[in-house]
Amino acid sequence: MNNVTVLDEFIIKRQSEFPFASGDLSKLLRDISLAAKIIHREVNKAGLVDILGVTDNTNVHGETVKKLDEFANTQLLNALQVSGKCCGIASEEEEDFVVVDNEVSKEAKYVVLFDPLDGSSNIDVNVSIGTIFSIYRRVSESGPCRLSDLLQKGAKQVAAGYIIYGSSTMMVYSTGHGVNGFTLDPSIGEFCLSHPNIRIPEFAKTYSINQGQFLLLADGLKQYINYCQETDAATGRPYSMRYIGSFVADFHRNLINGGIFIYPASTKNPEGKLRLLYECNPLAYIAEQAGGKATTGQERILDIEPLTLHQRTPIYIGSAGMVQQAEAFLNPTAE
Ligand code: AHG
Ligand code: MN
Ligand code: MN
Repeated sequence: MNNVTVLDEFIIKRQSEFPFASGDLSKLLRDISLAAKIIHREVNKAGLVDILGVTDNTNVHGETVKKLDEFANTQLLNALQVSGKCCGIASEEEEDFVVVDNEVSKEAKYVVLFDPLDGSSNIDVNVSIGTIFSIYRRVSESGPCRLSDLLQKGAKQVAAGYIIYGSSTMMVYSTGHGVNGFTLDPSIGEFCLSHPNIRIPEFAKTYSINQGQFLLLADGLKQYINYCQETDAATGRPYSMRYIGSFVADFHRNLINGGIFIYPASTKNPEGKLRLLYECNPLAYIAEQAGGKATTGQERILDIEPLTLHQRTPIYIGSAGMVQQAEAFLNPTAE
C-alpha cells in the first residue's frame, strides 16, 4: 500500500493549504463519503435480497426492507443532520427542504443538496447508479436555514461531486480547485486517490442521448444527431452513441473518455427531465472544473437563478468543443 493517498488524508491535506479554512467543509465531505460507503454496501447486496428471504418488504429479521433510494436518502439525511456543519438539506426524494435546527447545526455555515440515488430504474438490473451532491455557503446571516439559502445559482457552489456504484465504487468531487477521483478499496474500506486532476478531452467520439425520443426533439437537435451519425474521416464520425440511463454513469464515462451528454427539452418534457439543483448544477460544476462545459443549449447551467427546489432544465454537458458544436446547431443564427 505504498504511495496510496486515501480520501480523508487528501481532504485534510487540501484543507491545510488554506490557512483560514475552519475544517467544516472537510467534515461535510467526509460525512458524505461515509454515507456513501454504507450505500455502497447495500447496493452491492441488492441482488441478494430475494434469496435472503424477503417477503412483503420484510426481511428474515422481521425488519422492513426499504427501497434503495429511500435507504440512500435516509443515510445521507442522517449523516448530515448529525454532522453539525450543515443547517439545511434538500433532497430529490423530499418534497420540502429540511431545516437542521439542533443546537450545533442551526448556526452552521453550509447547506447540502443531493440526489440520493440517481438512475434508480437501473437498480434491479445490476447497472451502474450513483449519488450526486452539491454544497453551498448559506446566504442568511444566522438562525434557522431558509429557502433562499438553498435556491442559489450553481456558480455559488463551494463543492460538488458524485459517487458512482459501478464495476467499482468511486467518489469524484471538486472544491473549486480541479477534480479528483477516488476508488473504494472494499478490503480496507477506504476511498483511494486513483484519478488525480481529471481533465475532460475537448473533443471525443461519443454522444449520449435517449434517441428513442428523436421525433419529439427540436429540428436543430435532430440535425446535430444526424451530424453525429454522418461519415467523416477527419472528425472521426460517425460517433458512437452510448446511453446508460443513469446520468451519473453516462457523465462519468464522458468525463474520463470525452463525449457529450444531452437531456434536452422535447415536446414530451418541455423543461427537460433532469433537476437543476440535485443533478445538473453539481455535474455542471464538475464538468467546468475539469475543463468542460454545461449549458441548456442557450445558457450556462451554473448561471440559472433557481425559482423552485425541484425545477428541471434541459442540459448539454461534457467536452467543451462538442457542447459548443451542438449549440451551433440549436442556434444557427447566433454569432
Ligand atoms: P433518478 O433515478 O434520480 O430519477 O434519475 C433518472 C434520470 C437520469 O439518471 C437519467 O439520465 C435519466 O433519468 C434517464 O431518463 P430517460 O429514461 O427518459 O432517458
Ligand atoms: Mn437522478
Ligand atoms: Mn434519484
